[in-house]
Amino acid sequence: MGTDFSRFYDGLDDATVVQTFSDYVNPALSQVLQFIGFSSYEVEAQGSIVRDSSGREFLDCLGGYGTMSLGHSHPKLVAACKAQLDRMAFSSRILFNAPQAMLAKKLAEVTPGELHYSFFCNSGTEAAEAAIKFARITTKRKKLVSAKGAYHGKTMGALSVSGRDKYKTPFGPLVQDVENVEWNSIEDLERAIDADTAAVLLEPVQG
Ligand SMILES: Cc1ncc(COP(=O)(O)O)c(C=O)c1O
Repeated sequence: MGTDFSRFYDGLDDATVVQTFSDYVNPALSQVLQFIGFSSYEVEAQGSIVRDSSGREFLDCLGGYGTMSLGHSHPKLVAACKAQLDRMAFSSRILFNAPQAMLAKKLAEVTPGELHYSFFCNSGTEAAEAAIKFARITTKRKKLVSAKGAYHGKTMGALSVSGRDKYKTPFGPLVQDVENVEWNSIEDLERAIDADTAAVLLEPVQG
């Protein structure tokens, strides 16, 4: 097997990709995408431009839901990723790690309070999940307060503190002792926080 993934981008016809996606990834999503009018597939992206298999260019206003805020394949980011992969693709998980220590120090410098612990993770969902667990274990309290309409992720904990029943109801019973308050209402927040409250989860972006 070669290591060049271009075979997945060049020479495949649109119908094959669409059919394979429908058969093996997600038929419902495939239907939605086709309903919107898409029948091609993405082949490359630079900055804010995404190109498809027919050579069309799209202005990407979604930015990977915010994960591409520097633009697609920013040269500095690509260079940094390549350099790190060449040096060490994954931490040994047992020796001290200098970039991790230095980044944690920087985070402590730019955030309020006296930050002495940092937990690095791969997604917003994991951050919410960890925050819930840290709050419960350190405070020995249970109640979690978050906002109506909020989205914090899809794992059971993160979903439990989300504020949309549509996403939560099908997966119950969820993590208990959660109360959703009105967004932007200090009065409702003050009312909800009591002696058993372990954490208040508020994200500036509701999601
Ligand atoms: C406001 C908000 N919080 C949390 C998340 C979950 O983050 P992730 O998808 O990285 O797990 C998202 C994801 O879209 C989000 O928009």
